[in-house]
Amino acid sequence: MATKTTGKKATAKKPAATKAKTVAAKTVKPKNTSVSAVKKTAAKKVPAKKVAVKKTTAKNEAVKKAPVKKASVKKARVKKAPVKNVKVKKTAAKSASKPSKTTKKISGYGAGDVNVVMSVDQVAKEAANIASKGPSKSDLDKLAKNDAFFQIEDLRAGYGKMEILHNFSMRVGQGQSLCLIGPNGAGKSTVLHSIFGFTNIFSGKITINGCDVTSLKPSEKLSTAGIAYILQDKSVFPQMTVEENLLMGGFLKGRPAEAKAAAELVFDKYSRLADRRNKPAGVLSGGERRLLEISRALVMNPEVLLVDEPSIGLEPRFIDMVFEILYDLQKTDGKTIIMVEQNAKKGLDFADIGYVLVSGETALADNGRKLLQNPDVGRLFLGG
Ligand SMILES: Nc1ncnc2c1ncn2[C@@H]1O[C@H](COP(=O)(O)OP(=O)(O)O)[C@@H](O)[C@H]1O
Ligand SMILES: [Mg+2]
Repeated sequence: MATKTTGKKATAKKPAATKAKTVAAKTVKPKNTSVSAVKKTAAKKVPAKKVAVKKTTAKNEAVKKAPVKKASVKKARVKKAPVKNVKVKKTAAKSASKPSKTTKKISGYGAGDVNVVMSVDQVAKEAANIASKGPSKSDLDKLAKNDAFFQIEDLRAGYGKMEILHNFSMRVGQGQSLCLIGPNGAGKSTVLHSIFGFTNIFSGKITINGCDVTSLKPSEKLSTAGIAYILQDKSVFPQMTVEENLLMGGFLKGRPAEAKAAAELVFDKYSRLADRRNKPAGVLSGGERRLLEISRALVMNPEVLLVDEPSIGLEPRFIDMVFEILYDLQKTDGKTIIMVEQNAKKGLDFADIGYVLVSGETALADNGRKLLQNPDVGRLFLGG
């Protein structure tokens, strides 16, 4: 169902196009799956002044940035109608008095020049449609330059008896980086969990340099297979100093002397950590803590590094620093990196290879930057 807004009144002071955008942003509900409708009458009440639509991603962001002050207005406008597709048309775009029916231009997942706001359900549905024509194994081989160092073959894995990944395959060359993007719940973290040994693997195979590492326990993954997993957030020990936290990586692998030397290199590079090396890690800001977690990978010295959403919750300067460390790990130290990144633009711009995961299957795979240019990716994940 699509409900139009005409917004005649507001056009006296502000262009109706902008006003309609506000309405679109506000109708995205925090609990994404249901759908909103916009009432004609309520739309008229929106003061033109309050127009503010930011380029954000998806349901959450759009909702967060929508002005919350006018709760009463919002209530009046947002219905709980159980409709499938949210389609709030950008009405009266050019002329308020003549609402246009021809401006239906789809854009989505929150940001950009949004004319139609898609529900998360809709994004998943469209992405699943694209997934039905997923890449072949030879496409995946090519992206890894036909020389895969890390390989997943037809993996079926999940939690308990529930299968989340269905015949999932991946190839990454040595020293390459791969970024997984996709809707929430697609199974991106489950791919990393499976590689590290946190899931039930029903069938399929994971190999590094030809060695089967499928059934190694998490505790053996780093020492035996050289796989390190940077968890989201919770891996810093607050009572230990920054330096001790860094060294943990080395002790895990049982080489304290090498760890010490690697830690010195980290401190040489990142003064922000060096200045705080003897302070308890608990005093670090969120961004500094993330730097510590990621730079610990330099000390662990793994072959393959798994990173789940390195930029989540960080302000831009820290996001840049985090990607700088990852760049160093890949380009200077030759590490193979497999990451999940909600910030599709950052992740795909960084990675040699990008996979779009939908419902436990790969929908699209390409060179990271090419994927960034792909209109389907733009439309569904970048809001363009
Ligand atoms: N520990 C777990 N136990 C059971 N189900 C889980 C667990 N972790 C994730 N899931 C389920 O697996 C699916 C994929 O989750 P996840 O891999 O975290 O998605 P993504 O990282 O793409 O957002 C979701 O349906 C989620 O609810
Ligand atoms: Mg995840």
